[in-house]
Amino acid sequence: MIRIKTPYEIEQMRHTCLLAAQTLRMIEPYIQVGVTTQRLNDICHQFILDHGAIPSPLNYRGFPKSICTSVNQQVCHGIPSSRVLREGDIINVDITTNLNGFHGDTSRTFAVGVVNVRAAKCIEVARNCLEVGIRAVRPGGHVGDIGAAIANYAQSQRCSVVREYCGHGIGRDFHEDPAIMHFGEVGQGALLRPGMIFTIEPMINLGKAAIRHLPDKWTVVTQDHSLSAQFEHTVLITPDGYEVLTDIDQVDRNASHESAA
Ligand code: MF3
Ligand code: CO
Ligand code: CO
Repeated sequence: MIRIKTPYEIEQMRHTCLLAAQTLRMIEPYIQVGVTTQRLNDICHQFILDHGAIPSPLNYRGFPKSICTSVNQQVCHGIPSSRVLREGDIINVDITTNLNGFHGDTSRTFAVGVVNVRAAKCIEVARNCLEVGIRAVRPGGHVGDIGAAIANYAQSQRCSVVREYCGHGIGRDFHEDPAIMHFGEVGQGALLRPGMIFTIEPMINLGKAAIRHLPDKWTVVTQDHSLSAQFEHTVLITPDGYEVLTDIDQVDRNASHESAA
């Protein structure tokens, strides 16, 4: 069942999504050669608590930490640890906040120091995949429009899209209907209606799409050890388009329009 959010719920979602986005912006300067993923976890954990929220991943289905940190060939759900970041690594940091019972979810892949051309390409293609997916969102469209746009673009760049994990409705629950596949057919799947809120979060591999799980049962890695990158936003469908609730720049623009009006 796809929940259409009420005006009150949308207001709450704006708050939690802004906090998730602020957490991601806050952690960026700490992503440096020599830092451990555990330290990134701890800084985000404290920031989220200091803002009156709870990190949604902590104890979610047994997940042991407060954020996900996925390095290099890790696709998603990497567990923060004593691993030290090295020059040339790429790392996805995935933040989900629970503020007043509402979840906001966003992630980005960062370069650690100077990265090689292949790593830079992986990040850039994944960033563009999220962008083309978001631009495919419109009321009256379909879920399949989003996946089709992402997969077409990824293929044009000779990259592959992970098929086992997808975006998701989000609100009072961390993961709600609908599933947002990052591949599909235009015009297929659930109708996109104003008041729906979901994430788009394509995982893009430089090599083949196949994945496997590490023995920790959480960390997803590419089967062929190729690099993988991911970007994620939480998106609201509006009567005439969409709003990216976890895009700080867009939130700032909307706020300045309101104060100008
Ligand atoms: N934040 C991830 C997502 O985008 C989910 C992480 S689940 C966890 O859906 F348990 F690994 F935290
Ligand atoms: Co998500
Ligand atoms: Co996420």
